[in-house]
Amino acid sequence: MIQAPKGTFDVLPADAERRSLLESRARKILGAAGYRRIETPVFESTELFQRGVGESTDIVQKEMYSFDDGAGRSLTLRPEGTAPICRAYLEHGMHKLPTPVKLWYLSSFFRAEAPQRGRYRQFWQVGAEAIGAAGPEVDAELIVLLAELLEVMGVKGTRLRLTSLGTPETRVEYRARLAEYLRANADRLAPEVRARIELNPMRAFDSTDPSTREVMKDAPKLLDGLAPDDAEHFAAVRRLLDTAGVRYELDPTLVRGLDYYTRTLWEFTSDALGAQSGVGGGGRYDGLIEQLGGQPTPACGWATGVERILLAGSEQPIAPDPVDLLVAPAGHGSAGADAASFELAREARRTGLAAQLELAGRSLKSSLRHADRIEARYVAIVDETGERANLREMATGEQQQDLAIATVIPTILRGSRLT
Ligand code: HAM
Repeated sequence: MIQAPKGTFDVLPADAERRSLLESRARKILGAAGYRRIETPVFESTELFQRGVGESTDIVQKEMYSFDDGAGRSLTLRPEGTAPICRAYLEHGMHKLPTPVKLWYLSSFFRAEAPQRGRYRQFWQVGAEAIGAAGPEVDAELIVLLAELLEVMGVKGTRLRLTSLGTPETRVEYRARLAEYLRANADRLAPEVRARIELNPMRAFDSTDPSTREVMKDAPKLLDGLAPDDAEHFAAVRRLLDTAGVRYELDPTLVRGLDYYTRTLWEFTSDALGAQSGVGGGGRYDGLIEQLGGQPTPACGWATGVERILLAGSEQPIAPDPVDLLVAPAGHGSAGADAASFELAREARRTGLAAQLELAGRSLKSSLRHADRIEARYVAIVDETGERANLREMATGEQQQDLAIATVIPTILRGSRLT
């Protein structure tokens, strides 16, 4: 038997209901704040992620599904949504729109990671990006919106970790200071951390190696060396979160695995998730648009994992949509009954009823059993002439009425009791 590739999964109808619920909640929360839906292609030029996400990141170094398109171009299944959205922003001249340009998405992403609970090779994210505004209100509002989405989905045991990365200049200076500290302590670092001292010293904070962790306790922290502007921006974000009653923990060791971040950076985790505890995160990325060839443009955003929300959330599957009417021909094979049943179901849907046609060749008795199982309010059994139908109201048991076929729908719409 052929199976789905490792790290992928099927969305079965029962799961699809919870996903739709998440989608409608996201649309409501983000739509109310002025965010509009965007979708970008599933694959992009590989160069977009090399430049956008960063050459030194794990994502670009080892997690991208890249392929040659047969004409010598390298394409990549998108591993994340921020770089593609910035590409679309530039390509469609969205800088001419009123600022900030507020966009949201619900899309699938691809990363060649080792699969485990909550970590897949194809997964979905809900994301929000606000492009073109630099104020701290943007950051704080985005955090509040994500907190709200996690809350309405019943995500349990959430914690918000928050920090600021400052500007690239501060970071260059800080990286040099950190690299110097790491070099001085190189003999106590894990080999993979030692190998990355020059490429990405910040990743040392991510290490799970006990000796490296010990070294990192005394490492210089970026938050202590922010430039005055950045420190003021961060203080303002924190004041807004305090006023909104959003609780957070300052965590100067927070690392998010994407190179485009500047200033505010955050991540929500959930106790309900185990090892893959990150449920959603984001930050400011004031340099990314310029990095991709545009004018310097401030921007900020987040993304949250759909599967992780559903794993950590308490929202129960919602019941399938109610069925108003099941239409069944009295005897399958009678041309008159089959055609009239087909028409009746179609007509009923046009008037707004949820109507299903009996499609499995069931006998009269098993059609009624089926109506019971799908909890149809009414069943119409269309007779062989195709001109009359027996309409039964399932809730009241035996109540039924023989009607001219044209009066079936008006009778249901009136909601009149059958006699
Ligand atoms: P990210 O932290 O890489 O950020 O991903 C966001 C969320 O996607 C994670 O918190 C997690 O819930 C989910 N996620 C990531 N990888 C996987 C996986 N392999 N399987 C299941 N879920 C996963 C970004 O992607 C940034 N683009 C967020 C952002 C938007 N920053 C600014 N704007």
